[in-house]
Amino acid sequence: MKLTDTLEKAFNEQITLEFEASLVYRQLAIELELKDLPGMAAWLRHQADEEIVHANKFIDHVADRDNHPCIGALKAPKVEGTSVLDVFRAAYAHEQKVSESIRELYRAAEQEGDLDSRPLLNWFLSEQIEEEATVSEIVGRVELINEDGPGLLRLDEELGARPTRSTEAT
Ligand code: FEO
Repeated sequence: MKLTDTLEKAFNEQITLEFEASLVYRQLAIELELKDLPGMAAWLRHQADEEIVHANKFIDHVADRDNHPCIGALKAPKVEGTSVLDVFRAAYAHEQKVSESIRELYRAAEQEGDLDSRPLLNWFLSEQIEEEATVSEIVGRVELINEDGPGLLRLDEELGARPTRSTEAT
């Protein structure tokens, strides 16, 4: 069953937002690369890739519903402040924005009585809980480290150990 025009537009806005989230993470990765924190930069870069996976999941869904996925104009990521804490707080704020957008999409789907998008949106609701919890924990740990060099280097090493993944929507 096709998505209604209203839902097609809402899904396409979500696709655009996921690509924007990727750009935000990519820029944040650059900021920490410049601070000689390659592990944290790699972690953020993997997040950037994961946002592309999210965009691809939405694209596949819209196409599978016989609608037209369409990527909108992407806003350049605005990164203010470049301390490690600023970077992870910015990441957390963006995750919260994405979570709210997915809740809105869920509400819109409910309003249209669109049962077919429920499994995908449920997956995203769970994913956002996980994403927010992960980034929030890093923010908490960076606050505890409080700009202590050896502490930052330990966290850098830990975050750099994350395995890489493909950007295919699996
Ligand atoms: Fe696609 Fe990190 O939310």
